[in-house]
Parts: sequence; structure tokens; C-alpha cells
Amino acid sequence: MAEKKRILSGMRPTGRLHLGNLHGALENWVKLQDQYECFYFVADWHALTTDYASPGNIRENTREMVLDWLSAGLDPERSTIFIQSDIKEHAELYLLLGMITPVTWLERNPTYKEQQQQIEQKDLGNFGFLGYPVLQAADIIIYRAHGVPVGKDQLPHVELTREIARRFNYLYKSEIFPEPDCLLTEAPVLPGLDGRKMSKSYGNCIFITDSEKEIAEKISRMMTDPQRIRRNDPGNPEVSPVFAYHKLYSSPSEIEEIAHGCRTAGIGCVECKKILTRNVVSKLAPMRERRLKFESDLEGLNEVIAAGNARAAREAAATMELVRRAIGIR
Ligand code: TRP
Repeated sequence: MAEKKRILSGMRPTGRLHLGNLHGALENWVKLQDQYECFYFVADWHALTTDYASPGNIRENTREMVLDWLSAGLDPERSTIFIQSDIKEHAELYLLLGMITPVTWLERNPTYKEQQQQIEQKDLGNFGFLGYPVLQAADIIIYRAHGVPVGKDQLPHVELTREIARRFNYLYKSEIFPEPDCLLTEAPVLPGLDGRKMSKSYGNCIFITDSEKEIAEKISRMMTDPQRIRRNDPGNPEVSPVFAYHKLYSSPSEIEEIAHGCRTAGIGCVECKKILTRNVVSKLAPMRERRLKFESDLEGLNEVIAAGNARAAREAAATMELVRRAIGIR
């Protein structure tokens, strides 16, 4: 059998993950395990590029997030799961790549200006924030990954990674780094409880490991078709966030019945939400169970991370040997 291609992806440690994270990224990561040699890591240094003034709960959030990864089905036997800040070689490669990366490439990066404007309450004039994509490039190429599964917001970063890898190979007459491809995650944007994009900062999230009670309560106050005021009014399922969820969680026949029932006022919102709650709860139940298991075995969790770190460190160290030799330093 031909060797599997290697892919790598990371998330900043935001704590417990919500259904937007699950359908937007994590589910895809789980699937990719069948096809690729996978490296998945917590980008905790990246969190500091914006949160340097109040690092808060990075450690705690890292643990929570890895717990959710395992709950969702990342399998430490098949995937290398590790923490960025535990692999110091990322920092060394970041420094060396910083030497060869023109500042203009970074200033041109669309997410740089966008975020500086959007995130007004933080001063993002720091060097580390400008260098964000250089660190990301180091994360990726230190494992000589061929593919990077990410959403389209990350496309500019992967493109920069390709350019930096190409420049390194050219300057030091090496073939160390493959230029990684983007494996675009095609995911529908999942609305939050209020119909806006699901996001922690909006407080409109259902979390992967919410209890049955929490899920029922949240769905019960979820927005529906705002035009459908009385039970007897016909509604339009396509504008209802509840229906967007049915499309993900319910069977084709249920979806059809609900769409028809909504349009003809044959089914009320309360009933429709009950069906959804049942389906969401049953889909998430295995994840909750796995989560409980890992939560009661924190030593097991630490071992998973230690083993992933060890494997990642080996790979990173081997690449750095080649890198130092290519540049000609000790
Ligand atoms: N920038 C990514 C995000 O915000 C996180 C990240 C850091 C990453 N390093 C990476 C993703 C390397 C893929 C590969 O989502």
C-alpha cells in the first residue's frame, strides 16, 4: 500500500467547542483520519498574538478543547494530537522563516488589516500579530505536510505558507519543504440560536457536550420564522434556523414532513423543535459519553497528549536538522 499523505491542522484554544466548530471543522478532521496521516494540534501560541495582554485560561481551554476532539472521535491511535507550545522547534523555525519573509507579504495579508479593524478593543500593532502567518507556516511545514484542512478564511495563510516554503527551498537550494495544498472544508454556516452565525462571543451556541436538558432548553428558545406569529399561520421553513438544523440532524422523510407541515401550518414550532431536540440529543449522545469517560480519566488524557507531543517532537526535530544543515548553521 502506498504511504498515506500527511495533513495537519490546528485550532486556537477557545475552550469547549460548539456545533459550528463540529460541523465546520471537527467532523471533517475525524473523517480525514481514514485517508491521511493526521497531525492535529492546539495553536496556543497563536492565541497570544491577540490575547497577550490577558492570556486568561489558555491552559484550561486547551484541555477542554482536546477533550472535545476526543469526544468527537479523533483517535489518538491514528492521529497525532499535540500542543504547539510543547514543541519548541516551531519557535526556532518561526525565527528562521522570519529572516526570509518580506514584511510586505505580511502587511498585504487580508486577515491582518481586517482583524486590526474589527477587533478594536485590543491593540494589534504588535510584532507577533503581524507575524501570525509566519508562525502558522512554521506549524505546517515543520511536519512537511501535504495538505491543510481549513475553512476558506484560512486560504490566505496557506497561500503564504506555500510562498514561504518555496522561498526557503529556493534560497537554500533544498527540497525540504513540499508546498502544502488547502483541503477546503465545505461547510454550511450553522446559525446560532438567534439566527446569526454561531459564535461564543454572541452567546448563541449549543455546545457539543451540552446535556439533554440544556439542548432542549436552548432549542426551545431558538428563533423560527419571524413572520409565523400564530400557530395557524403558515410558515417558511427556509428562513428558520430550526429548519437549518433539521437538514443536518433529521432523516430525509422527517425533513420533508416538517417542511410541508410548516408551509401548511400542519405542524407547530413547539412540535417541530421537539423532533429536532430528540435528533440532536441522539446524535450527540455518543460524544457526551466519550467525554464523560475521558473526564474521569484525566491521566489518560495527559498520556494521549504526551504521546502525541513525543511523536510530533520527533518529526519536528528531524526537519530542523535538515533546515540547519541547509542554511549552514549549527
Ligand atoms: N489560524 C488558524 C485558525 O485561526 C489556526 C492555525 C494555527 C492553523 N496554525 C495552523 C490551522 C496550522 C492550520 C494549520 O483557525
